[in-house]
Amino acid sequence: METKKLLKWIGAAAALVLAVVFLGGFASGELKYFLKNRGALGPLTRDDIAYETIEAPAATSKDGTINASDWAAAYPEIVATMGANKENSYVTSYLEQDPYLVNIYEGYGFAKDYGSARGHEYTLEDVAKTQRPHANANCLTCKTPNFAKLVNDRGVSVYTMPFDEAMALMEENISCYTCHGNDAGNAGALVVTHSYVNKALGDNVATIDPATLSCGQCHIEYYFTPEDKETMMPYHSVEAMTPEAILAYYDSFGFYDWEQESTGAKLLKAQHPEMETFLQGKHAAVLNCADCHMPIERTEDGKVYHSHELVSPLENEELLANCATCHEDTDMVNMVRRLQERITARETEVGNKLAEFNDALAEANANGTLSEEDLEKVRKVYREAQWFFDFCYVENSEGAHNSELANRCLDTAEEKIVLGMELLGR
Ligand code: HEC
Ligand code: HEC
Ligand code: HEC
Ligand code: HEC
Repeated sequence: METKKLLKWIGAAAALVLAVVFLGGFASGELKYFLKNRGALGPLTRDDIAYETIEAPAATSKDGTINASDWAAAYPEIVATMGANKENSYVTSYLEQDPYLVNIYEGYGFAKDYGSARGHEYTLEDVAKTQRPHANANCLTCKTPNFAKLVNDRGVSVYTMPFDEAMALMEENISCYTCHGNDAGNAGALVVTHSYVNKALGDNVATIDPATLSCGQCHIEYYFTPEDKETMMPYHSVEAMTPEAILAYYDSFGFYDWEQESTGAKLLKAQHPEMETFLQGKHAAVLNCADCHMPIERTEDGKVYHSHELVSPLENEELLANCATCHEDTDMVNMVRRLQERITARETEVGNKLAEFNDALAEANANGTLSEEDLEKVRKVYREAQWFFDFCYVENSEGAHNSELANRCLDTAEEKIVLGMELLGR
């Protein structure tokens, strides 16, 4: 055997052994081991955090929410790290990056203005300046604790308040009240302040780790109810958080976000289903959002706390050290970046195909070659293809939270595109 070939063979055998060891290490028995040793993540753990219960400061806001500056004397480390979310200020235009979106979102606000998200310290500024029209106050739902408080005080009628009128009452970007109510003094107890979470999930809120649910008040798929434009989640349990089940839910009452004039299709716009995607992934049994986005740090005088700067785990040493407790010997940054590249490349491919499908449907819609009944059939297939594409595209981790689900969404979208083009005779 030539040396080169032999080396190749040895390499392949070694890779096989490594793969067996790696996969074996993650067999379900091992996951339980991780679960039992959940407290052992990283150099500092939740168990090192020892906050006493303290009396809440008086609220200085107009609506009675205790704001960040009210808490600053008691929790300077948390207020300062939350303020550091200001550093995440980079925005890209998705429409420039992925021009096929203009076609797909045609007739909807996102075809005019669609920039990437940035840190929590920019929510009010960004909602005020977006070029997407917002008639109602409901788009303040995920931007500020003052709106959650307004809903809690006055009920769902505030969702249809004129936007400008409600905006004038808003005082803070996402802040303490959003995740803790006025109860942060109770050692940082987490409180669901967004009423629709309790309404949609009922007793099932208890099946989700609070440090996941607190983010899941906003990092989710949601819709506005047709009657009173109330913000609502399209499911009642974790099991029903799949893109398939959510689509079936929307179909069950004929819900759509917009009707596209060119194609005549009644379409859905997915939002940012981070919680749904994460909860169906490999980490959900063991980890919560804070584990990977809120590093545990120590102040100079020895106080251990969760940094409230929500960072990428790939850009933070403490968080990368957490990964290493399970992903021993893996270059995590490289592993995740490769995975993201694969997903992003597939998104571009499927997105372009979807735009072609959109063009073909618009053409058929305009030239009357198909009966209305046949057109309706294709429109339904298009609605589904668009939904599965979007569910993956708008999820902010680019596959890192759950590459299996991302691939499943793109596969389904592709199948539907092929079927739709066939029905159009393409
Ligand atoms: C976006 C949600 C969110 C916001 C906003 C937020 N927190 Fe937290 N906070 C959390 C989470 C998640 C934890 C971790 C809880 C856990 O793991 O048990 C936490 C933990 C805490 C703790 C317990 C100590 C620790 O670090 O684990 C305190 C105290 C606290 N937060 C105070 C505040 C204050 C004061 C503000 C406003 C300046 C604030 N939080 C804003 C989500 C939030
Ligand atoms: C009240 C709603 C709300 C809650 C609760 C919330 N977020 Fe956000 N989050 C947003 C919004 C809105 C943005 C985009 C802000 C902008 O671009 O102006 C955002 C942005 C982010 C970003 C930056 C995204 C980027 O592309 O740079 C991260 C990271 C993030 N959130 C993580 C979390 C985590 C982790 C939690 C829970 C501890 C959480 N968020 C809780 C609404 C929320
Ligand atoms: C196992 C670790 C892990 C858990 C748990 C996790 N994430 Fe992530 N998240 C990641 C990684 C890795 C990325 C990609 C970061 C990057 O591209 O730099 C990411 C990206 C994001 C982003 C995009 C912003 C950014 O920094 O790129 C948001 C928003 C986000 N996660 C929110 C959440 C929410 C909400 C939860 C809980 C429902 C959650 N994450 C749970 C690892 C995790
Ligand atoms: C408690 C143990 C544990 C920790 C901590 C952990 N992981 Fe994982 N991770 C796993 C397991 C188990 C799998 C599934 C492996 C498999 O199925 O082959 C996994 C799989 C993954 C995958 C592939 C998932 C997919 O959907 O393709 C990525 C990416 C990943 N982890 C990133 C991270 C990052 C980044 C961190 C740290 C921020 C981290 N993990 C921390 C246990 C962990």
